[in-house]
Amino acid sequence: MKYALVCGAGGFIGHHLVRRLKAEGFWVRGVDLKFPRFSGSEADDFVIGDLRRQSFVDAVVDRHFDEIYQLAADMGGAGYIFTGEHDADVMHNSATINLNVLDAAYRRNCRRIFYSSSACMYPQYNQLDPDNPKCSEDSAYPAAPDSEYGWEKLFSERLYLAYARNYGMDVRVARYHNIFGPEGSWNDGKEKAPAAICRKVAQAFDGDAIEIWGDGRQTRSFLFIDECLEATLRLMRSDWTGPVNIGSEEMVTIDQLVDLVAGIAGKSVEKRHVEGPTGVRGRNSDNRLIRERLGWAPNAPLKDGLERTYAWIARQVERNSYLVAAE
Ligand code: NAD
Ligand code: GDD
Repeated sequence: MKYALVCGAGGFIGHHLVRRLKAEGFWVRGVDLKFPRFSGSEADDFVIGDLRRQSFVDAVVDRHFDEIYQLAADMGGAGYIFTGEHDADVMHNSATINLNVLDAAYRRNCRRIFYSSSACMYPQYNQLDPDNPKCSEDSAYPAAPDSEYGWEKLFSERLYLAYARNYGMDVRVARYHNIFGPEGSWNDGKEKAPAAICRKVAQAFDGDAIEIWGDGRQTRSFLFIDECLEATLRLMRSDWTGPVNIGSEEMVTIDQLVDLVAGIAGKSVEKRHVEGPTGVRGRNSDNRLIRERLGWAPNAPLKDGLERTYAWIARQVERNSYLVAAE
């Protein structure tokens, strides 16, 4: 029997990861401030508590774990991290969690630990051209992320790599590029563009206008949760310690994302471009390193993941409208 600890198991990626590790036969402990929001956790042991408290962290890292996944963070989409309103919390909360979890893992001799960094750590100056963003792993320096969220990720990457160098920890660092799928935030202010657009389209009647932040020409790539987990586990079990992009290379404009979702919904929607937090102008995953090191890279079409995500969000929208009607 192998043992895994998933920090952030009540969140979107952590919840799906627990499911995947259980399917592989692991004994899994999940830890979070909260239970998963949309369905029960499959973890053998789910502990509610605050990873900012070292005593709590010591209590949950109380045995040998073969694999530790550190996904807990104070995070959200553009509406959460680019407004500036949560900067102090984002930096303090996430850095404290990382300092605590990594050190407890080291003291318990749990050597293999995964850290979920973000594409938000890449410098803004390489992401000004929407058609030609540069996000290769070696382009991280000179550092100039456009958000405090990105700076914390960069600090924590360095922290994990320092524990690898000085204490022989087997760290694995992924730079996730906008992960989406069912059971992610869709209406709580932390939702990212795929979920927000699915929600807006699901709530719209045929021919309605929906609001899009920015001019719609900013670019991104989006990775479906199943391929995110596949890449995460392959990286964890590889022998590569340096940070690696985990993302899709299928770059689209936000307007194209809207068109894709509207097509899936079978609705025609008008785009009303409004002011809003927009973040970098362009971003795309560069998968050369993951291909080279893992011999594998995500390649599923964006449309496939959007179909499954739209179906799930449309159901949430419908359920919520029944609840409101019943009140
Ligand atoms: P999420 O917000 O759904 O999950 C994070 C979880 O951490 C939440 O359930 C939250 O309650 C928990 N948490 C926060 N503070 C805590 C604390 N003090 N103690 C215990 N638990 C705490 O986010 P996610 O989308 O599942 O992302 C997981 C990780 O991947 C995060 O580190 C995030 O920064 C990183 N990441 C995600 C994306 C993405 O597109 N989803 C992109 C880049 C990086
Ligand atoms: N969230 C959201 N909601 N974004 C919208 C909307 C909307 O209604 N309309 C347009 N957008 C635009 C945003 O303005 C931004 O330019 C783009 O869609 C993408 O927004 P998000 O998906 O919210 O975030 P992001 O790609 O800028 O950053 C996300 O990905 C990072 C990793 O690549 C965040 O989730 C980060 O936390 C994450 O680390």
